[in-house]
Amino acid sequence: MSRSIELKTAIPGPRSAELHERRRQSVPRGISHMTAVCADRGEGAVVVDLDGNRLLDFAGGIGTLNVGHANPDVVAAAGAQLAKLTHTCFAVALYEGYVELAEKLNEITPGRFEKKTMLVNSGAEAIENAVKIARHHTGREAVLVFEHAFHGRTLLTMSMTSKVRPYKLGFGPFAPEIYRLPYPYTYRYPIAADAAAYERTLRDFFSTHVAAEKIACVVLELVLGEGGFVVAPRDAVQAIEQICRERGILLVIDEVQTGFGRTGRMFACEHYGIEPDLLATAKSLGGGLPISAVTGRAEYMDSAEPGGLGGTYSGNPVACAAALAAIEFLESRHLCDRAVEIGRQVEERFRCFYDRFPFIGEARGLGAMRALEIVKDRATKEPDRDRTDRILRKACENGLILISAGTYGNVIRTLMPLVITDEQLQEGLEVLEHALQ
Ligand SMILES: Cc1ncc(COP(=O)(O)O)c(C=O)c1O
Repeated sequence: MSRSIELKTAIPGPRSAELHERRRQSVPRGISHMTAVCADRGEGAVVVDLDGNRLLDFAGGIGTLNVGHANPDVVAAAGAQLAKLTHTCFAVALYEGYVELAEKLNEITPGRFEKKTMLVNSGAEAIENAVKIARHHTGREAVLVFEHAFHGRTLLTMSMTSKVRPYKLGFGPFAPEIYRLPYPYTYRYPIAADAAAYERTLRDFFSTHVAAEKIACVVLELVLGEGGFVVAPRDAVQAIEQICRERGILLVIDEVQTGFGRTGRMFACEHYGIEPDLLATAKSLGGGLPISAVTGRAEYMDSAEPGGLGGTYSGNPVACAAALAAIEFLESRHLCDRAVEIGRQVEERFRCFYDRFPFIGEARGLGAMRALEIVKDRATKEPDRDRTDRILRKACENGLILISAGTYGNVIRTLMPLVITDEQLQEGLEVLEHALQ
């Protein structure tokens, strides 16, 4: 078997260590790093560092690289667009790429109704705009979010995010009119597995926290991203959707991390049979370039007055060209099917790991979005962040880029590019197995 990992020095090697030192002097520590890797170039599922070490990437830019590093189609499309028209600002002079991408997203997102799409630059911006649109359309102010949610780092999305450290502590005061429901995290809150009990909790919320007629939208991740790859049970999601419909509350689904094939379908919504009023996407939309979108029912999307939505860089032509090429690549190479197969292989290995290592509390996931929750004791489920960090460090030392998630920092998650080969996948899983030992 030909191996992709090739290590010439320790990680970080001397050139990387030098860059770390320059970075320490020039970049604030609040901008952190999950690994010690200094990337020089990338191809598919491989990253080459500054010291010439070849590593396998199971983090994929935290899910931005479903089509792989330096995807040739994305590079060609972005390069051609860069040379032709770099930017105008869509508010000044429109261009075809923006409109074409909006048309494409309207076509491929769930929902058998007329849709429109607006483009922005990041996941947080997409969520902010979804909330603005929901508020404008409904004339209501409150926003319902969930425990363990992550929606971004801007003031509004940080306020919507659940995890206190490092995302919120010291950054208040927070945006008002945000209310938080328990997430149906069945491993930690068994009550969430009882659909009727969970639905009662939701309905009680309108008596104990905020009146339903004040709520503009519910914002939900179907699989928690930063929250630890917790897959919401179908019954719970359907209860949330039904309550939204009954009470005139818009359902906003955050598919920033789950979108574009990661879960084995183009969007995680498709597993649940739900049609969100507004869908927020980012990350793998741009094939590595910064672009995000809100796609939703045309009548809601059209609520804001001209000029109420947008931004100078939003829907930049180069990012639009990259996104169109990335979507075309996902579709033509059947990467959703590939995500199912990757998920199957990872799940199989993770099940063996679960049987073998008592510190694994749960192995779970959807499609290629898979996770291991690390605990001190299976009975108490006490999170074991230190062990998680040690496993990830060991994996990196042996050439595998792998990152954690979870409110308690104790979940190992896989976000490998979907172009990874079977050999590379098994090689990476071997490195992980060795690190678990
Ligand atoms: C589900 C989810 N929503 C929103 C965001 C924020 O995206 P960004 O970092 O691009 O602002 C993230 C980022 O990880 C995410 O995973």
